[in-house]
Amino acid sequence: MPSSTQTSPSAPAAPAPPWPGTRADGMAGLEIGGTRHELPVIVGTEGERAIDIAKLRSQTGLITLDEGYVNTGSTTSAITFLDGEQGILRYRGYPIEVLAEKCDFVEVAYLLIYGQLPTTEELHAFRSSLSHHTMIHEDMRSFYGAFPRDAHPMAIAGSVVGALSTFYQDSLDVRDPRQVEVSVHRLLAKLPTIAAYSHKKSCGQPLMYPRNDLSYCENFLHMLFAVPCEEYRVDPDFTEALDTLLIVHADHEQNCSTSTVRMVGSSDANLFASISAGISALWGPLHGGANQACVEMLERIVADGGDVKKYVDLAKKKDSGFRLMGFGHRVYKNYDPRAKLIKSICDKLLAKIARHDPLFDIAQQLEEVALADDYFIERKLYPNVDFYSGVIYRAMGIPVQMFTVLFAMGRLPGWIAHWIEMHQSPTKKICRPRQVYSGENLREFVPINQRG
Ligand code: SDX
Repeated sequence: MPSSTQTSPSAPAAPAPPWPGTRADGMAGLEIGGTRHELPVIVGTEGERAIDIAKLRSQTGLITLDEGYVNTGSTTSAITFLDGEQGILRYRGYPIEVLAEKCDFVEVAYLLIYGQLPTTEELHAFRSSLSHHTMIHEDMRSFYGAFPRDAHPMAIAGSVVGALSTFYQDSLDVRDPRQVEVSVHRLLAKLPTIAAYSHKKSCGQPLMYPRNDLSYCENFLHMLFAVPCEEYRVDPDFTEALDTLLIVHADHEQNCSTSTVRMVGSSDANLFASISAGISALWGPLHGGANQACVEMLERIVADGGDVKKYVDLAKKKDSGFRLMGFGHRVYKNYDPRAKLIKSICDKLLAKIARHDPLFDIAQQLEEVALADDYFIERKLYPNVDFYSGVIYRAMGIPVQMFTVLFAMGRLPGWIAHWIEMHQSPTKKICRPRQVYSGENLREFVPINQRG
């Protein structure tokens, strides 16, 4: 018998976590068919804990199932931290409220992609590089003549961004940091041009070339609204509002479109192809497309006499197929901090331009009624980033069809940062989820003349 002073051999030390930026935090036990299995628990820098199931199948023969990945983390990431319960959102450790107040969008894009706030020289060089990549190839301008006049800007953006890989075949190598960096700058610089051209196409106006003397947001608004026949002065209030809107849209950890960019990128597809896929995922009305769907919903309510209670009640009926667009979130079970920021910009901008928008009134009434309703309270459904953003875009004269492509412009640095982070991971693998088969068992083939 071991002496009382002898201690039993200590439990095997938890294996070092393979996940960068985390530490081991004990083991989780799993009882399967009378056998106990142990899996390592890891913890991130903000105390989020996870069970590392990398060895689950080899240890137990089982896999996990999780529709929509509600409980499943796909990776660790050092880019964005969000706490859905507390309503916290930080990019590289900085609260978005601070970044929205102190930075412009280009500086935040630099932070997300390079991981640190830039020095004066770094930011100047970054701005200058973007300014000198804003034009698209003249042959790409001709694409716009081929699209139907009512082509959706997201369809155009996804197509043209994917086509960038045909014009820049010299910079598609995902393993060459120099080629990746020039592709990053080209994408950030050209997406506003691509987006603005889709609007000009829709209204039959000439495509306006970008201007190197304007800031990122001024340039976009100039390409969107200027015409060759007269000088166009960009409203500084609109520039400021757009800068903040792009900042609050810039990243949001593993949302549907960012996960899509990582998924496509994991096959070593080039950056343009990966971002084009992200644009397509963002388009859905349950995701980025909600900003357009939300304004269309508010317009419907105004046209229907403004009875918000009727629509709140409709949204509670499962079989109605109607949802309050711009409401609810997979992660935020508290007020989306971005919605708070956007709502305050809305208030400020509408007052500044002395414009009254009935949609803003209806949106506020809808919020008030819904947040007092048990259905929404029980499900912790609050306004999300898409609830008020459309009202601001409308106030700026931006057509509703353009709202989601503006979301894409904002999200682009986040997509790029995640794509790069994925490629820099020492444990990078191609994404290939498993499944549980639920179809027919083995069947004998029946010749066609014996069927039916
Ligand atoms: C974005 O992931 C991200 O971070 C996304 C995003 C980002 O920055 O990348 O934040 C951007 O996509 C914001 C979300 C924009 N989408 C919308 O506003 C569309 C309307 N909202 C929903 O469809 C919904 O809330 C989702 C899609 C946002 C979240 O869906 P979940 O997490 O899958 O939740 P769910 O659909 O299972 O809903 C849970 C319950 C259900 O009721 P029960 O079955 O429990 O009775 O809440 C209900 C839903 O019916 N519900 C709503 C509702 N949203 C959820 N009921 C009425 N109106 C709504 N808007």
